Amino acid sequence: MPVLAIVGGQWGDEGKGKVVDQMSENADIVVRFSGGDNAGHTVINRLGEFKLHLVPAGIFSDVSCVIGNGVVINPAVLISEIAMLNKAGVNTAKLAISDRAHLVMPYHILLDELEEKSRAGKALGTTKRGIGPAFADKTNRLGIRVCDLLDKADFKERLAMALEAKNTLFTKIYGVEPLSLDEIYNQYCEYADYLTPFIKNTVSLLDEALEQGKKVIMEGAQGALLDPDFGTYPYGTSSSPLTAGGCLGSGIAPNHIESVLGIFKAYCTRVGNGPMPTELMDATGQKIRDIAHEYGTTTGRPRRIGWFDAVAARFSCRINGMTALAITRLDVLDSMESLKICTAYELNGKKIDYFPASVAELERCKPVYEEFSGWGMPITHVRRFEDLPLQAQTFVKRIGELAGCEVYMACCGPSREQVIHLKPLF
Ligand code: IMP
Repeated sequence: MPVLAIVGGQWGDEGKGKVVDQMSENADIVVRFSGGDNAGHTVINRLGEFKLHLVPAGIFSDVSCVIGNGVVINPAVLISEIAMLNKAGVNTAKLAISDRAHLVMPYHILLDELEEKSRAGKALGTTKRGIGPAFADKTNRLGIRVCDLLDKADFKERLAMALEAKNTLFTKIYGVEPLSLDEIYNQYCEYADYLTPFIKNTVSLLDEALEQGKKVIMEGAQGALLDPDFGTYPYGTSSSPLTAGGCLGSGIAPNHIESVLGIFKAYCTRVGNGPMPTELMDATGQKIRDIAHEYGTTTGRPRRIGWFDAVAARFSCRINGMTALAITRLDVLDSMESLKICTAYELNGKKIDYFPASVAELERCKPVYEEFSGWGMPITHVRRFEDLPLQAQTFVKRIGELAGCEVYMACCGPSREQVIHLKPLF
């Protein structure tokens, strides 16, 4: 029953795509379990550079790929992603889409935009992909699921009901034009025809694979600090990026999970609004942003940069049940003279070692740092931990100690090969 969950430990963009692509070589199935096309998983391999929003990053290996029930799917984005992959020579025949997954509809995207606008100075900074409204409809029992596309008459009835409620909002509250039922219906019928061969009962598919002793990777999207329960609420996303979210978003029971690999950058980034205690608003932050080209994969927005936050990382490890860590983008720090890790916060004159629930408190937290000397040389060619400069070894080990979970992998470049394995996994 070997299931490996690969989850983001920070605010997303930790490099999950690269790690999943690499680990897929040893797997049979990769299942994406949360979020939607707000995610942007970058993979660089022998076929080129890819930015995936919905298709699991395992698609480049000879594995089955599943978009689980916990993902909200914008069919237009999915279809163009499949076409892009096929054009690059990637076989997508082994892609399956859960019949239980919810659909992102045009009114979700419009609503995301209008809601953000109405929040004015308090905007969440969403990706405007309709993710929040789609998950809200799921919870409200107004959602339309992939399986609904298979019965067009039933689909039209559900769509009419959902759209009526949304058009009332658009015209009466937001003062914008209503959306056309026929246009959406016809468009989604076309999507349905294209996607029908991919639509499967993925719960059974995964269950049978596990029965046969196949290896499954659960691929997370976003990161723990964006979780609706444990993240910086309300500045977070609308589905759970945690390991537990992996069970709910795939139908794989928790007792199948053998290991949980938490992905962390060697520093922090955040895109969108909300507190970030170690944020660097200075030249150092800009230097890291420039070196690492830290701009959102989905939105192109500049990412906020900060030092590694071990208080948040400890919290992330605990709520995810992480059994191993991967530290990505270590090479970005090659030219830094000195480095910092936040080991505690100072809140109202007191030192605390926990991640507060209240964003107002978190905004007031001042980071307490431990300082390290940099290594001042390129490490992109290094493949063995013992060949890393001693300062880099110390930095990586200290992250593991402070986070409370051992580091198994360190990445020192964007390509599949630029990985140092400290311990075998999976
Ligand atoms: P939403 O998921 O589009 O509703 O956006 C809510 C918050 O989550 C915003 O701060 C986004 O920037 C952030 N977010 C959503 N998806 C990602 C991601 O894949 N990486 C990083 N941040 C994300």
